[in-house]
Amino acid sequence: MKHIPVLLNSVIKALGDVRGRKIIDATFGAGGYSRAFLDAGAEVVAFDKDPNVISDAEDLRTGYKGRFSFVNKAFSNISELKEQVDAIVFDLGISSMQIDTPSRGFSFRWDGPLDMRMSESGETAADLIKNLSAQDLADVLRDYGDIKKATVLANKIKKANPETTFELKELINNPKDIAPVFQALRIAVNDEMGELETALDSVPDLLKTGGKCICVTFHSLEDRVVKNKFKKWTTVAGDPRLPVIAEAQFKLIKSETPGKKELSDNPRARSAHMRAVIKSY
Ligand SMILES: C[S@@+](CC[C@H](N)C(=O)[O-])C[C@H]1O[C@@H](n2cnc3c(N)ncnc32)[C@H](O)[C@@H]1O
Repeated sequence: MKHIPVLLNSVIKALGDVRGRKIIDATFGAGGYSRAFLDAGAEVVAFDKDPNVISDAEDLRTGYKGRFSFVNKAFSNISELKEQVDAIVFDLGISSMQIDTPSRGFSFRWDGPLDMRMSESGETAADLIKNLSAQDLADVLRDYGDIKKATVLANKIKKANPETTFELKELINNPKDIAPVFQALRIAVNDEMGELETALDSVPDLLKTGGKCICVTFHSLEDRVVKNKFKKWTTVAGDPRLPVIAEAQFKLIKSETPGKKELSDNPRARSAHMRAVIKSY
């Protein structure tokens, strides 16, 4: 299934006039955001660690000559760009192509190898289960999936050593825990929290004055990371007993969730939240 971009109109509105502006699309996916930025006249550098998107990226490179380039790396590498940019956009999580391809092992709806690697390199989810201690696996389930009896389930999973999505699913007694367990493993396999922290830490230096950072999040853990970083950037640190004399470097310009129409047209917009900040100096 082709990926339908989520909250794209809100992102476009928050960006404003982008003609001649340079934008980093940190999460290329099916290229829905990149294409919209290019059509609005921007220059785009896109990142995605999934090698399966390279041919779509190649189409944009030839279609928008000189205005589009693609880096097949994790977005924690955006600081490698030496030039400051006008906007950095993150549309986090996985794409429809990833979740709907059984052989990639992201979904409990289809049987497939327990893989879950966006980059198709490194440890799979099955490897992770083998390599982590039961205690560390329990921490992953608790911290990233909010699983209540995480130790019991981690021990059961370790003992069974599942190799496929359906083998894992069968080990989870409470149906309500299935999606959170899969999410927890996906977050761990792809180091989603570490990636986001590292990338966001390079945003303030990478943005020009007047530049914007926009994040679309899909679960509460990544949303918390974005909210806390934006809060830090938009707050003046200082002695709370003294009057505030300095202006914070960033201002929050938008915090938005999808409207009814988008939610009914695209169920994957559920739980999406967009936040945007501008660098004022
Ligand atoms: C929700 S999709 C983006 C969809 C895109 N905005 C569009 O309109 O087609 C997220 C994409 O980000 C990529 N991704 C997620 N985390 C990443 C990371 N740390 N580094 C690079 N790419 C990442 C995934 O591989 C996936 O293709």
